[in-house]
Amino acid sequence: MIDVHSHIIPGIDDGSRSMKMSLTMAKQSVDAGVTHVVCTPHIHWGVFDNTCANIEEGYSRLNDAVAAENLPLTLSWAGEVRIKEIIPQWLAENALPFVGKWKGKPVLLLEMPHSHVPAGLDQLLRWLSASGIQPLIPHPERNRDVIKMPDKIQWLRNLGCLLQVTAGAITGRFGDKVQALSLQMLDADQVDIVASDMHDDVRRPNDMGEAYQMVKEHISETRADKLFTQTPGKIVTSQDE
Ligand SMILES: [Fe+2]
Repeated sequence: MIDVHSHIIPGIDDGSRSMKMSLTMAKQSVDAGVTHVVCTPHIHWGVFDNTCANIEEGYSRLNDAVAAENLPLTLSWAGEVRIKEIIPQWLAENALPFVGKWKGKPVLLLEMPHSHVPAGLDQLLRWLSASGIQPLIPHPERNRDVIKMPDKIQWLRNLGCLLQVTAGAITGRFGDKVQALSLQMLDADQVDIVASDMHDDVRRPNDMGEAYQMVKEHISETRADKLFTQTPGKIVTSQDE
């Protein structure tokens, strides 16, 4: 499986707190059946002021540590970019990292606030689309506005977004409402990718293994393979459909 969303680089956001914890998370990911993890620290202006430079540096240290442990795990890096007015400027300055490519377009992991769907999001999404960027929205199933108004899911899809559901949302780690919405999205074929969004080794570990089994049983093995392996794999290898 290919995991396109993780907070496994130590010490640069609210994810892993030490290299030791990161290595445990890497081992847990391998045990879950994951072969590639994209490190996506928060890029959240004024909260987590990460840049391509410091993310690449953290990735490089982690990659060396994973290699020293002989773990069969490929790492790459990008970022989880919180929606802010500054995004067009960052894009113009080439300051934003991409997870890979989808149908030739660079894929931006673009995070909404957890509380609401921000006003003007449709304009930003149309602007990104016109600029040749493919937005990938993480965890819409955990957004409080979306939970209240599930029609927003199709609205986001109609605006051209790819949608990533969290593995732990499917397994119930985020409660009944989030789990119900995740399963509803799966039933309606409104999910493009499942990723872990792992933050640590205990409270928010890599739930990809358990979630894969649930999707396989709830929907089908073919769909599980598509959501956990094929689609994320095409993106990280920038392989066209
Ligand atoms: Fe995240």
